[in-house]
Amino acid sequence: MRKKLVAGNWKMHGSLQENSTLLNALVKGIPELESDPSCAVCVPYPYLASVQSELQNTNIKLGAQNVSQHEKGAYTGEVSASMLKDFNCTYVIVGHSERRMLFGESSQVVAEKYVAAQKAGLVPILCVGETLEQRDSDVTERVINDQLSAVITLAGVNSLENAIVAYEPVWAIGTGKTATPQQAQEIHHFIRQGIAAQNEKLAAGMTILYGGSVKASNAAELFAMSDIDGGLIGGASLIADDFIAICKAIR
Ligand code: G3P
Repeated sequence: MRKKLVAGNWKMHGSLQENSTLLNALVKGIPELESDPSCAVCVPYPYLASVQSELQNTNIKLGAQNVSQHEKGAYTGEVSASMLKDFNCTYVIVGHSERRMLFGESSQVVAEKYVAAQKAGLVPILCVGETLEQRDSDVTERVINDQLSAVITLAGVNSLENAIVAYEPVWAIGTGKTATPQQAQEIHHFIRQGIAAQNEKLAAGMTILYGGSVKASNAAELFAMSDIDGGLIGGASLIADDFIAICKAIR
């Protein structure tokens, strides 16, 4: 049975007060969490301590949205994987398309971040996905293959046993243009088959999330697809009722 997960990616949003209001509503709204920890929030670095303490007696897991590929040293402004571990992070997003496109993170750097995360005992959520131009040029599978191969070359395919992959078509992020369940399933299946060619058992058990305009209204039909094991949620994770509905849809 594959692990299911709905992870909220708050991106650069929140305040101490807003976070507290949101988390209180989540804790009250998802009682099933007691038995089935399949919900997480990935928060901006400054809020790790306060969110860690607010999540203390819940099953909601904590994650970060980025991490340095370096273990420690003269890297002003960077945050290491062991620092995230200090705040009881379970997950860390690596290779989000906004990091790749806006901050110039190459697939090689993403692979190094992935390795650093696992070395510190974190579960990397490795984001892959194509732009609209790449999809229209029919190179989606090549793009995703290149993004995955950089990690597999550096860390080995078996490292995926302690990782999660998130397929996030760039053209669906923040646009309201969600991939159809069939479009998402097709790429999830492609990802799983590509890994199965190297390790069939691992691929069968891998958690692959979908991200890109997941809403309360479309979550259930996306999660019903055989190779979609949950979601990486942006905007809707900031609205308690919506995120609660999406977390409930995974069950
Ligand atoms: O990491 C998840 C994010 O990129 C999706 O954003 O707002 O389309 O759900 P959104």
